[in-house]
Amino acid sequence: MSKELIRLRDLCMAYDDELVLDHLNLYINDKEFLTLLGPSGCGKTTTLRIIGGFTTPLSGDVLFDGVRINDVPPYKRQINTVFQKYALFPHLNVFENVAFGLRMQRRPDPSDPKRKSRLPEEEIRQRVLEMLEAVSLKGFENRRTDALSGGQQQRVAIARALVNRPKVLLLDEPLGALDLKLRKDMQIELKRIQQQVGITFIYVTHDQEEALTMSDTIVVMDKGSIQQIGTPEDIYNEPKNAFVADFIGESNIIDGVMVQDKLVQMYGRQFPCLDGGFSENEPVDVVIRPEDIDIVPVEQGQLTGTVTNVTFKGMQYDIIVDFRGFKWLIQTTDHSPVGARIGIKIDPDGIHVMKKSRYSGLYGDYSSFSDEYDELDAAEVDGDET
Ligand SMILES: Nc1ncnc2c1ncn2[C@@H]1O[C@H](COP(=O)(O)OP(=O)(O)OP(=O)(O)O)[C@@H](O)[C@H]1O
Ligand SMILES: [Mg+2]
Repeated sequence: MSKELIRLRDLCMAYDDELVLDHLNLYINDKEFLTLLGPSGCGKTTTLRIIGGFTTPLSGDVLFDGVRINDVPPYKRQINTVFQKYALFPHLNVFENVAFGLRMQRRPDPSDPKRKSRLPEEEIRQRVLEMLEAVSLKGFENRRTDALSGGQQQRVAIARALVNRPKVLLLDEPLGALDLKLRKDMQIELKRIQQQVGITFIYVTHDQEEALTMSDTIVVMDKGSIQQIGTPEDIYNEPKNAFVADFIGESNIIDGVMVQDKLVQMYGRQFPCLDGGFSENEPVDVVIRPEDIDIVPVEQGQLTGTVTNVTFKGMQYDIIVDFRGFKWLIQTTDHSPVGARIGIKIDPDGIHVMKKSRYSGLYGDYSSFSDEYDELDAAEVDGDET
């Protein structure tokens, strides 16, 4: 069992009377890779800055190892930060960039505790080399930092932040400046470094795929509130509300009614599912992932609809299907042409039922994918009777 390292208790923050963090409650375990994920402006950086000690919360507590650290300045916290713009020192080589923090350090002299002395050169050398090895930059010691690729510079920035042996590393969109291919490599690399060094990473991103790839735990935020906390699998398979379902992956989100446990009604039809614990006939939001829908002959379909758009994606087709004006995304390896009437089938475990929330009705319709087809179809009368 991992041990709790950081706890945020009822954290609030406001700028100009506007609440940007609304009673945040969260704990982070030792050696955990935790990601704050959410759209721009949802409060990710603000949360990170409060943990790092750069911003003072309006109210609430930050606990480190059970001790309140609200009033502890950043440099006295066992926490280091890698920002998106990881300005390296251009006049120093790789070795000196990483050694910088250690050269600044003073510690009590063993022979005279009242005096403070620098770290011995040999210790600095060893720790820097060890760190460069951890980020796969052994042999780059004497390189100028402007002669490094983006990914290499990023790894220097991480080595520089880790060399002081913090208990926690805060990373604010550290891969934002890199191109897609490099970003993917660095995601795997970062995860490896975190596991090898064995420290806690608190990572900020608005990229859901990045969060799913790297995290032990994902915290989905919107408008200063936590919407859901869970493992990547939890968040993907069991989103708590329409916001989370829409933000993570592709989702068809349909109005439904929970007839009874394990039976949900959509479009007037009843679908067996695995969910329960709702009241009888409770209105709900139903999430169906595009990859969980099977296309079948019309007469075998639980629902029937009309294909309005087909996009070839290499591994599969993205098909937009109109069910009484609400457009679904279906991902399938079978090709169905535009205009075809198709039936669909959904296994009970492909249906996920959620409580209604303030996000109900805002997401889950793929109409904007096929507007151009709508215009073409406008003259036709679609006698869609599902
Ligand atoms: N110093 C500040 N003064 C005033 N408002 C601020 C300040 N810092 C942040 N805000 C506001 O607080 C809200 C949360 O900002 P924050 O930077 O935490 O968002 P974020 O989730 O990191 O977004 P992004 O993905 O764009 O970086 C935003 O509405 C932002 O405009
Ligand atoms: Mg930010």
